[in-house]
Amino acid sequence: MAPKDKTDRAGGRGPRHVAIIMDGNGRWAQARGRPRLFGHHAGAKRVREIVEACPDLGVKYLTIFAFSTENWKRTQVEVAGLMSLFRRYITKEARALKAEGVRVRFIGDRVRLDKKLQALMDELEELTAGNDRVHLTIALNYGGRDEVARATKRLAQDVAAGRLDPETVDEETLPKYLDTCVLPDPDLVIRTSGEARISNFLLWQSAYAEYEFIDTLWPDFSAQIFADLVLAYGTRERRFGGVKA
Ligand code: FPP
Repeated sequence: MAPKDKTDRAGGRGPRHVAIIMDGNGRWAQARGRPRLFGHHAGAKRVREIVEACPDLGVKYLTIFAFSTENWKRTQVEVAGLMSLFRRYITKEARALKAEGVRVRFIGDRVRLDKKLQALMDELEELTAGNDRVHLTIALNYGGRDEVARATKRLAQDVAAGRLDPETVDEETLPKYLDTCVLPDPDLVIRTSGEARISNFLLWQSAYAEYEFIDTLWPDFSAQIFADLVLAYGTRERRFGGVKA
């Protein structure tokens, strides 16, 4: 059985869904005179601590950007090293994730990923499908524009096949075709490493999200920094385009 959760430290005012752009691994490694992959390995180690911090903070959904549709432009060595890291991460962490009550999902276009990795992703999703303590979504070969394009294609196929009346298409329709169709929209998006851009991450879903751009490089990110950002969010007022009540 999954461990029992403590009280929600954000008192119900915290974000239910936090999304993170884990940036700065390369610079962290370079600052130490090490290859970029050393930084990615250090970055992967931070993930567990953040997932474990979620229940106590009332964060039910955590979505992390592990590999973008643009990341294929990196050197062959770095791309192959990242793919190998993802395979190892899934293999090594599967049991702990299941035992911790974490439900894992992947978003992004799986087709371009190697077959072995795809199989591991399917297995991990299946293994953790009964969990509900924390919902961890890993974006792998993910791009917001690519996701909207793929969703639109399927929507158009439904229209062409007579399964969907185009007159009924509205703001509620497209999200049903997105990779994130079962997830709530993110409330808070964090990007590490001092860059203030969203880099094609959850474009549709983040329309009303709050953003935190922090200077810390991802391998230096900690449960304490995460808790500070989550608790600070609880003091913000979100108006969703309306006025103060
Ligand atoms: C950005 O840093 C990071 C990535 C492209 C990879 C993110 C991957 C991890 C944190 C590791 C593994 C994650 C899982 C789920 C196992 P960068 O390389 O762009 O850094 P830089 O901007 O300093 O060059």
